[in-house]
Amino acid sequence: MKIYPKFTGAELEKLGLTGNMPKHVAIIMDGNGRWAKARHMPRSFGHRAGMEALQEIVRSSHSIGIEVLTVYAFSTENWRRPESEINALFSLLVEYFYKEIDELDANNVKIHVLGDLSRFPAKLRELMETAIDRTALNSGLNFAIALNYGSRDEIVRAARAIVQANLTPDDITEGIFSEYLYTNSISVPDPDLIIRTAGEQRLSNFLLWQAAYSEFVFTNTTFPDFTPEAYYECIKEFMRRTRRFGKVLPN
Ligand code: IPE
Ligand code: IPE
Ligand code: MG
Repeated sequence: MKIYPKFTGAELEKLGLTGNMPKHVAIIMDGNGRWAKARHMPRSFGHRAGMEALQEIVRSSHSIGIEVLTVYAFSTENWRRPESEINALFSLLVEYFYKEIDELDANNVKIHVLGDLSRFPAKLRELMETAIDRTALNSGLNFAIALNYGSRDEIVRAARAIVQANLTPDDITEGIFSEYLYTNSISVPDPDLIIRTAGEQRLSNFLLWQAAYSEFVFTNTTFPDFTPEAYYECIKEFMRRTRRFGKVLPN
């Protein structure tokens, strides 16, 4: 089992990570299929390679001091894929959490799931619920996996829950509305940086509400090839951006 190092200021400087570190990074992990296709391999081979890349991204997020890492693993639209691919993805997720939970827990990682787990095979659902419970008191990196997640679904569910709670129109503020979203379980609410791998420049129904003021970085690298070094390049790009939040900044 690996205990992840925490980089010192000098080590971060050596990596060029000297600016404002994002607190919350969200990643749309795309391009597993294309990565496999380029190698004349089945798509599931790409998903496996993607899981391996993810483990390194979790480790490095801890090392550089990210507070929340959210990854898009399965969208509400991904049910449109062939059943064989969906099953292969679920098996890989089971394998990943089964294998990695001890290490994640030992490194103080706190696991969250964004999305509706009820449609998943019992084995995967139970494993995820166990992982969430087991790491609930951990205080290190928050690692949120978006599974059967779609922003429109999230927003519609929030609206339904608000009606069920008998809130009046005056009760409904942006803050209250956010409390009804899946992301309410994470202490740092909105992603500072959203990275999408594999060249597409779209959100694909990911964090529509939460992305209101996020910075976007798109990279052509497919997710299985998305090494910590490639990740650090995206963070450096984020550090070069000026965030104004609608204000005029003093010169
Ligand atoms: C992984 O990449 C994302 C998931 C939905 C699991 P893809 O499977 O979408 O790969 P491409 O986009 O077809 O290359
Ligand atoms: C977005 O990737 C969903 C995940 C990464 C889980 P897709 O590959 O499903 O997105 P589209 O279909 O190209 O927009
Ligand atoms: Mg894709």
